[in-house]
Amino acid sequence: MNATKRIVLIGPPGCGKGTQAKRIEDATGMVQLSTGDMLRAAVAAASPIGLKAKAVMEAGQLVSDDIIIGMVAERIKAPDCAKGFILDGFPRSIPQAEALSKMLADNKQPMNGAIEIRVPDQFIVERITGRFTCAKCGAGYHDKFQKPAKDGVCDKCGASDFSRRKDDNEETVRTRLSAYHEVTSPIVGFYDRAGILKVVDGTQGIDDVTKSIMKVLAEL
Ligand code: AP5
Ligand code: MG
Repeated sequence: MNATKRIVLIGPPGCGKGTQAKRIEDATGMVQLSTGDMLRAAVAAASPIGLKAKAVMEAGQLVSDDIIIGMVAERIKAPDCAKGFILDGFPRSIPQAEALSKMLADNKQPMNGAIEIRVPDQFIVERITGRFTCAKCGAGYHDKFQKPAKDGVCDKCGASDFSRRKDDNEETVRTRLSAYHEVTSPIVGFYDRAGILKVVDGTQGIDDVTKSIMKVLAEL
């Protein structure tokens, strides 16, 4: 498959953006660009961006567009992005989508597709409250839907330390879902009008969602 594609994954918290972006990265060499992961790294490093973002993220609200746009504009200039990339969690508002279009047009790099992973709200709390991650390599798991083969041991790196995100609780998820519906979901229409929107059913099992996305990617 031609790996120099640039795509956006869109969907509510817990729809599977991170899970699927990692799988696409492994299968194609395209680079996963997760603004949530970038912000969590900034918070852990107590950088100026991290200090501004910490409380906003813990409350489940959106970090300001100017911070996020600046962060992504820097990141997509890095040489690894020449292999193509999967945006995971960006854009998350119309101003972010417009800024991305401008960045890509300035670099003469068209966006190939925007894939909405559609999952209704009633699935989300269980997905989010059951999520955990390997503290060493970042592999993602779920208490019910994606358990490690051996209890307490990471399938990928063998470590036995796991972590849960501070914002993965029921109350914060409800705020994140509201932010998704109010501020983020209009970007679905934005990409539909641009003629590059594809929709996959995110309520399927994880492997079937991957198959659906790989099929869409092959056609882009
Ligand atoms: P971010 O980290 O992007 O969080 P999010 O959008 O809320 O998305 P999640 O990471 O929670 O879900 P996901 O879709 O990646 O699901 P996953 O694959 O892990 O952002 C965090 C915060 O940072 C935001 O709230 C905001 O404050 C800030 N931020 C980030 N970007 C921003 C931006 N652009 N603008 C402004 N602010 C920004 O799956 C979830 C769980 O479900 C896992 O346990 C997984 O194993 C399981 N699972 C996945 N798929 C399936 C399936 N098909 N069936 C069953 N289980 C599944
Ligand atoms: Mg994620």
